[in-house]
Amino acid sequence: MIIDGKSIAEKIKNDLKTEILELKSKGIIPTLAVVLVGENSASKIYVRNKKKACEEIGIYSEEFNLPENTSEDELIDLIEKLNSNSDINGILVQLPLPLHINEKKIAEAIDPIKDVDVFNPINTGRLISGDTTLIPCTPKGIAELFDYEKISLKGKHCVIIGRSNIVGKPLAMLMLQKDATVTICHSKTKNLEKICQNADIIIAAIGKPKFITKNMVKNGCVIIDVGINRNKDGTICGDADFDEVKDIASYITPVPGGVGPMTIAMLLENTIITTKMQNNIDIKKGEI
Ligand code: GUN
Repeated sequence: MIIDGKSIAEKIKNDLKTEILELKSKGIIPTLAVVLVGENSASKIYVRNKKKACEEIGIYSEEFNLPENTSEDELIDLIEKLNSNSDINGILVQLPLPLHINEKKIAEAIDPIKDVDVFNPINTGRLISGDTTLIPCTPKGIAELFDYEKISLKGKHCVIIGRSNIVGKPLAMLMLQKDATVTICHSKTKNLEKICQNADIIIAAIGKPKFITKNMVKNGCVIIDVGINRNKDGTICGDADFDEVKDIASYITPVPGGVGPMTIAMLLENTIITTKMQNNIDIKKGEI
């Protein structure tokens, strides 16, 4: 079964529209600041898509485009201004940043209550200790896919390939909270094929096209593909060899149209959550 992330994301966005109308009736306009430094062409596309998604559902977004030679201090100055501006509910600094800027310092500069990406280590620490109010967008999108498809994680062996701060590490915490037994694999892992053969769920966040092949997948395995890779002909493919593994897997997410649209939907949801936090409005349990 192919998990249709695109249509699930559309449903979530529709539900968020109602929430936004409610906020607007209280005089609150959810507002996201989107900061882009430099000329990375992929980042420009991501930022455009995020802004478009905001517009679609009624979140106001303000874009800040800074030149490549912006200093770390200048970027931190902007973030501090956005932190203290009560009209701004969420702050997103698109990664990667130019090499002369320390991404960790930038993440730490964003006020945790406006941290829609959930990159500030204060929020990471909260997540590790079981507070799931704010969850990074991609891990949260993946958890929502499991919920929508009613795939239980209880006692399942979940193999995550990739240990990034954005996906692999927070995702492992989240899967653990949902009672999965979690293995995190990475470029130095030995016997990866054997580990994968034992997995009930494989979540691939490697960044290598068609890396997951049929010899790695047991019958009925759930495959969640976080990869976005470009083929030589310009088309996009995931980290799994979709055609080779789709008939062995019980569920699989396609690329495009799987995890990607969910990540954006979760950015919108996180913006609504931070807006509510700043206005002391309760966050309903079902939302997280
Ligand atoms: N670059 C790649 N993924 C992301 C993301 O989720 N958020 C931001 N801000 N930058 C990214």
